[in-house]
Amino acid sequence: MNKSYEELKNVFVDMVDQSAYVELESTAYNYSVLESSLDKPLKMVLLYGKPGTGKSMLLNKLYHDMKAYREIHYFNSPILSEKEFLKSIYEAMSGQEIPTQMRVNFDALLKYCLKLKDKREVVFLLDECQLYSEALMEKIRLLSDTRVVKFVITLHKTDNEDVIAKEHFKTRIWEVIEMSNANEYDMEIYIQKKMIAEGFIDFFNLMKKKHFRYIHSHTKGNFRETNKYLYTLFDIYEYYEKNEPAKISKKKFSTKILEMAAIRLGYINA
Ligand SMILES: Nc1ncnc2c1ncn2[C@@H]1O[C@H](COP(=O)(O)OP(=O)(O)OP(=O)(O)O)[C@@H](O)[C@H]1O
Ligand SMILES: [Mg+2]
Repeated sequence: MNKSYEELKNVFVDMVDQSAYVELESTAYNYSVLESSLDKPLKMVLLYGKPGTGKSMLLNKLYHDMKAYREIHYFNSPILSEKEFLKSIYEAMSGQEIPTQMRVNFDALLKYCLKLKDKREVVFLLDECQLYSEALMEKIRLLSDTRVVKFVITLHKTDNEDVIAKEHFKTRIWEVIEMSNANEYDMEIYIQKKMIAEGFIDFFNLMKKKHFRYIHSHTKGNFRETNKYLYTLFDIYEYYEKNEPAKISKKKFSTKILEMAAIRLGYINA
């Protein structure tokens, strides 16, 4: 192999950027539902799922695909101060910058939106909405009631809290797109596409079904976990390449290193 394991491990660094987007059957399906939901008379669209299932990635891709021909704005990290949030909404809609000391009054913003009814439809993509306060979510809801602004929001699903059961999410007219971990087949395709895109097809071909099954048994097909596992795997490969190259074969994938990575990540005990 001419390329280094250092380069290979970096293929699996977590990155939310549409340039690294991998299309799988599941992601393509979710994307098409998301895309068509924007053409429906919905006020809110919810992307919902456990951490690491690709919500931010999908939002990022949607933004880059649509920004050329739609009024669409992307808040990739939550704006937690209400003052800043309202200001950002107004600035995005009006194209005007508001002086730092000035506030945007919420009622005035609602009126501004209502005046644009049937003239414009502005989409806001809000990532990480579980971090917004109840009060701010209520304002987001009221803004969406004008039907001039539409929100696509992502929410992190936790084991002990059913966020969509909360009052402000219950009554909205919206589409709920639930994101989940990849099955074994999709996880393999994910790894394959990432490795091939960066020129590591030879190494990929050394990996067998049993290896993917083993990886999936630990990561459950969660994208973030899968990245972490593969990064660690190639980090150990890199160590051997630099320090004990005789111990690694170029012709056979090392089950031993796969296990070492699982130990390092605490998936199994040594
Ligand atoms: N479709 C995809 N193509 C390529 N990489 C992806 C894809 N989906 C997820 N990933 C990878 O998995 C990582 C985690 O995905 P992402 O950040 O989108 O998860 P999330 O659901 O937003 O998680 P959280 O709830 O913690 O915000 C990303 O950094 C990216 O590297
Ligand atoms: Mg996210």
